[in-house]
Amino acid sequence: MGAVSDTDPTPAAAPWWRDAVIYQVYPRSFADADGDGLGDLAGITARLPHLAGLGVDAVWLSPVYPSPQRDAGYDVADYRDVDPVFGTLEDFAALTARAHELGLRVITDLVPNHTSSEHAWFRQALAAGPGSPERARYVFREGRGEDGAQPPNSWRSVFGGSAWTRLPDGWWYLHLFDSSQPDLDWSNPQVREEFEDVLRFWLDRGVDGFRVDVAHGLVKAEGLPEWDHEQALLDGASASGERPPMWDQEGVHEIYRGWRRVLDAYDGERVLVAEAWVTPPERLARYVRGDEMHQAFNFDFLRAPWLAGELRRVVDATLEAHEVVGAPATWVLSNHDVVRHASRLGYPAGSEPASGVGPDDPQPDAELGLRRARAATLFTLALPGGAYVYQGEELGLPEVTTLPAEVRQDPSFARTGGADRGRDGCRVPIPWEGDRPSYGFGPGGASWLPQPPEWARLSVAAQTGVPGSTLELYRSALALRREHGLGRGTLAWDGGLTGGDVLAFRTRGVLVVLNLSPEPVPAPAGTRLLLASGELVGAAVPTDTAAWFAPA
Ligand code: NOJ
Repeated sequence: MGAVSDTDPTPAAAPWWRDAVIYQVYPRSFADADGDGLGDLAGITARLPHLAGLGVDAVWLSPVYPSPQRDAGYDVADYRDVDPVFGTLEDFAALTARAHELGLRVITDLVPNHTSSEHAWFRQALAAGPGSPERARYVFREGRGEDGAQPPNSWRSVFGGSAWTRLPDGWWYLHLFDSSQPDLDWSNPQVREEFEDVLRFWLDRGVDGFRVDVAHGLVKAEGLPEWDHEQALLDGASASGERPPMWDQEGVHEIYRGWRRVLDAYDGERVLVAEAWVTPPERLARYVRGDEMHQAFNFDFLRAPWLAGELRRVVDATLEAHEVVGAPATWVLSNHDVVRHASRLGYPAGSEPASGVGPDDPQPDAELGLRRARAATLFTLALPGGAYVYQGEELGLPEVTTLPAEVRQDPSFARTGGADRGRDGCRVPIPWEGDRPSYGFGPGGASWLPQPPEWARLSVAAQTGVPGSTLELYRSALALRREHGLGRGTLAWDGGLTGGDVLAFRTRGVLVVLNLSPEPVPAPAGTRLLLASGELVGAAVPTDTAAWFAPA
């Protein structure tokens, strides 16, 4: 076990996004200024100092556009405004200005695969009737069978049920998600022009970038060929090697090349981030080629089981694939679509639930989950590239698994008759001060999803300044990450330490050890501890713990 050395070249001044830590704000659940139980922009603005103090570089806001909220805002009725439940365009401007003052960049969510069925275009399409140019912006088809009573093909909605809904005039429209989210037809030049204009609308308002929803779905294979497989929630690519005709089609890349040209005409380093559930990493890396997007979410990492070999395999494959195209990797453990990692990792490796846990399902081991989540985070925040933090993970929040059916709002719950528990459990409003109603989420007790009583002790106030709390762990990790330039380095596995269920790598002079084995791993000679996800025991890194070491 050699002493720590820094073999990484000092990187030239790199653009901010190459190693940024981007914090996802889920607006309806972050902070509620007006007390209606649903978070809002004014609430977020007031709480921005928490994020600056945490030490992140940017904020990504899930959608705040006008929307009937059938899919929590991912059903957009107007791409150039703010929903009154969240505030106004002026509130958005105030948020952006305050964030910039605090040194935080702002990334907004763009939803180009589908609109809401209440978008003006869809209403016009319904009114104009079959064969009209208004309908040509969406994917309308006639049904199969004698009277067209069968859907045009066998495609399934990601949220359950058919991906087609029939209109009273007999025609069907495609929706890969809820029936209130009709898919746009991206072969139509009007659709392309419209979205380039929407990009400019928000770039002109000073946003620093866009997280692009379902980036792998915009273009469908010619002729909409059959695909009668069940769609797993957000499972965008087939493990069998067959490429589903609705995901990851070649045509999407040309769209993003066009968008990149739009962004490059603006000053500052504005970014495009792909939400593309695409595997293997070589396919994902195609979204971040030099003239396309800047970053893509690495869902293979998020889905990797808690096994050293698997984690290493995903890290290596990710870094290799991104290096080929010269793009930074990204690392993410939680978001608003998956079971929070403090709970996901509380299941035996390989049996982690992807989406939703109900009260009658096997429950996670909360203590084990949190220990592993803290270790996973420390490991992740040292990896080369960018990282994403989902609101509340810095508090160690678990998935809320006890939500009764009547409060669940995710359309996937209703569309599957509850078989898919849905994503509400990771969307519960976060606790700020434990001794206030709604734990300080809003001024009163209102909260659109009920908060569990044990969250009082997990609030920001309860953890601030408490040594060893998850919040202080994140603060320390982000400060050290910045100080040592982690994220800007390269990764070299330590051959002496890595093996069995132990992973160890060096980056920027820091040695990172993750112990998944049942035995403690002695702290390497010639090093001093910078930070650990749990207490070292007799100068050894215990099971399910990660630690960062510097040369002594
Ligand atoms: C991905 C988003 O993250 C998810 O929340 C949404 O339901 C789907 N895309 C559909 O827009």
